[in-house]
Amino acid sequence: MNQHTQESLNARPDPEKIRQAAALIREGKLVAFPTETVYGLGANALDAGAVQKIFRLKGRPATSPLIVHVGSREAADALAKNWRDDAEQLARRFWPGPLTLVLPKRELIPDVVTAALPTVGLRVPANAFALALLAEAGVPIAAPSANRFTELSPTTAAHVRRSLGDAVDFILDGGPTRVGIESTVLSLATPVPVLLRPGMISVEQIEAVIGKIEIAGAPAEGAHPSPGMHAQHYRPKTLLLLVKDADLPTWGRGAYLFMNRSAVARHRIGESIEMPSEADQYATTLYDTLHRLDEGGFDWIAVEQPPETPEWAGILDRLRRASQ
Ligand code: TXA
Ligand code: MG
Repeated sequence: MNQHTQESLNARPDPEKIRQAAALIREGKLVAFPTETVYGLGANALDAGAVQKIFRLKGRPATSPLIVHVGSREAADALAKNWRDDAEQLARRFWPGPLTLVLPKRELIPDVVTAALPTVGLRVPANAFALALLAEAGVPIAAPSANRFTELSPTTAAHVRRSLGDAVDFILDGGPTRVGIESTVLSLATPVPVLLRPGMISVEQIEAVIGKIEIAGAPAEGAHPSPGMHAQHYRPKTLLLLVKDADLPTWGRGAYLFMNRSAVARHRIGESIEMPSEADQYATTLYDTLHRLDEGGFDWIAVEQPPETPEWAGILDRLRRASQ
């Protein structure tokens, strides 16, 4: 068992709420639920009609494939056509956890789930609420982040309520999510694995298990390595700027998220927030901080650019997209 599981086991889901949520999933309804990364908007992955509702509610293009959540390695194996050795090794090392593996899909997964791609993204989430829901529902659950398309992902039930409101049939509240940014997405559909989306499980950690992988071109360079990897994604409504050396706008009223305290004193800022200097803790608080500032009527949010080291890659990716 890895660290993600141990921590999430401390939370205790209410069995009655889990039964209610699972019954709705089986009836083809939509349930928002916590994972260790962000809240997901879930539907029975084997029910094309139910999955269709996710796309409608989010305003998500049909070309953007969904991740399918399962309760175990065996359940993932049952949905993938070619459960390779590297999939097995990665699943043993990182599941339950924030790593999505893209593999050739079996026919039983409807095309709407995968945007008609022959592959499917699979992961076992390290969250007690998500695992209890999957066990009780007895079906795989397709779920994108529980926000409207291009918006910032939700890390609390309140964020979900604000974005989707009554349009979702049930919101399973499991408290704030622990990891805080979306899972690392790795394609195992090619001979050499390809990183499609960086996250808190780093390239280094993956390569330590399966050896050298390839990195898909950055969206900022105009390449779309997979459908749904849009550059403009994960965005607050307020203008977000990624800055170096406290190079802040001289107009309007802004908020500044910094790690290096020395730069702040030189400027008059609407609000300045010291962010954690550890990547894990930074990721945990980032979206909640941005959600809150987004409601604050600021003209801009400036974020000090984090270090360009492997453990910050996922965070930097989200901040770059948010600042497009
Ligand atoms: O942490 C997460 O991954 C969260 C929680 C809810 O699990 N989910 C999430 O889903 O972030 P979403 O839909 O917002 O992002 C899914 C990402 C997209 O970038 C999509 O392109 C990629 O996964 N993806 C899913 N299936 C794929 C496939 N078959 N081939 C390539 N990329 C795929
Ligand atoms: Mg999303």
